[in-house]
Amino acid sequence: MPRPCYFRLPLLGLLCFLLAPIPRAASAQEVDNRALTPPMGWNSWNKFGCDVSDQLIRETADAMVSSGMQEAGYAYVVIDDCWQVDRDSEGNIVIDAERFPFGMKALADYVHSKGLKFGIYSDAGLATCQGRPGSRGYEFQDARQYAEWGVDYLKYDWCNTSTQDAPASYTLMRQALDASGRSIVFSICEWGSNKPWLWAPGIGHLWRTTGDIQNCWDCRREWGGMGFVHILDLQDGLESYAGPGHWNDPDMLEVGNDGLTITESRAHFSLWALLASPLMAGNDLRSMQPEIVDILTNKEVIAVNQDVLGRQGRKVRDDGDLEVWAKDLHDGSRAVVLFNRSAEERQMEVRWPEIGYTNSMDALVRDLWKHEDLGTFQGAYSAAVPSHGVVMLKITP
Ligand code: GLA
Repeated sequence: MPRPCYFRLPLLGLLCFLLAPIPRAASAQEVDNRALTPPMGWNSWNKFGCDVSDQLIRETADAMVSSGMQEAGYAYVVIDDCWQVDRDSEGNIVIDAERFPFGMKALADYVHSKGLKFGIYSDAGLATCQGRPGSRGYEFQDARQYAEWGVDYLKYDWCNTSTQDAPASYTLMRQALDASGRSIVFSICEWGSNKPWLWAPGIGHLWRTTGDIQNCWDCRREWGGMGFVHILDLQDGLESYAGPGHWNDPDMLEVGNDGLTITESRAHFSLWALLASPLMAGNDLRSMQPEIVDILTNKEVIAVNQDVLGRQGRKVRDDGDLEVWAKDLHDGSRAVVLFNRSAEERQMEVRWPEIGYTNSMDALVRDLWKHEDLGTFQGAYSAAVPSHGVVMLKITP
């Protein structure tokens, strides 16, 4: 109960004004612990595009459990674009009834019954990137609808936004989600166009930093899509903007989509883990080869991604095709990725001073793909790294 102020008595009024506590906006973290570590899950887009359905989502939820992915930490099952076809006369969003005959509530209930969380997609503009109805002008109505269905995660795209202001548009939907009364993770997808790392913390829990990832090592599409190494290059320098509750998002994983070799897939997954990136699988979980399951469920690599300190890894050395990346972990140890982009196997080295240790320090080195302690080393550790591959280490003084 605020203290009464005596504004009729000028001196007392002034005293009251000076002594009253200054109202302080609650920081994002105080009110919101929805994504204290990077969200993990699956999204339909990379593999299925518009070919989404109730059956696909149910089978994917089943596979997330039976493959061991749920146990490894994956939680969100997210339907991307194309589930929506229209609005009714009252402005309610209309679901594609052929593909989702039981409605979204029943589907969300099914996903929840597996102990998983349910996510959906919309767009801040008049239409989504595939021309389906966007949420512009319907933000509060849509958010209320999502909450009624039991949605836990919203990916919000940026197509057909004309001259809309990005921070204002995303703030509006964030307010609508908050007003819906349901706790919903908010994934901002405006491709880094408006430098979201500068304004999105406190609005979204994650924000895309680039155009769309493509299922390839280093291809580039005319419209802006690109292979994973180009996306990686664009993350360098963004590390200070990420932290618990607010993550840079270099886009969903292409592991298991056959455009990358197993060695490249391991590199992609290791680097996304080191970047504290959201780990959203983008492949068909119902038909994974054992090597793909091994990559997606490597618990030691996932532990690096989910480390409670919430630091994003950074590039500590760039020798052309040979790059050393490192991430501080909560116990004072470091995760290190030696990444060889060249066409031949190369010997690579991480030196202690570049990860914040002194040369004279003894440190235990563990290989996170071999699941093997390699011994105690002083000053540096070197290893042969395959072409287009990584060696991923945990170094503990
Ligand atoms: C944009 C997004 C993608 C995907 C598609 C769907 O391109 O960046 O991740 O959501 O739209 O149309």
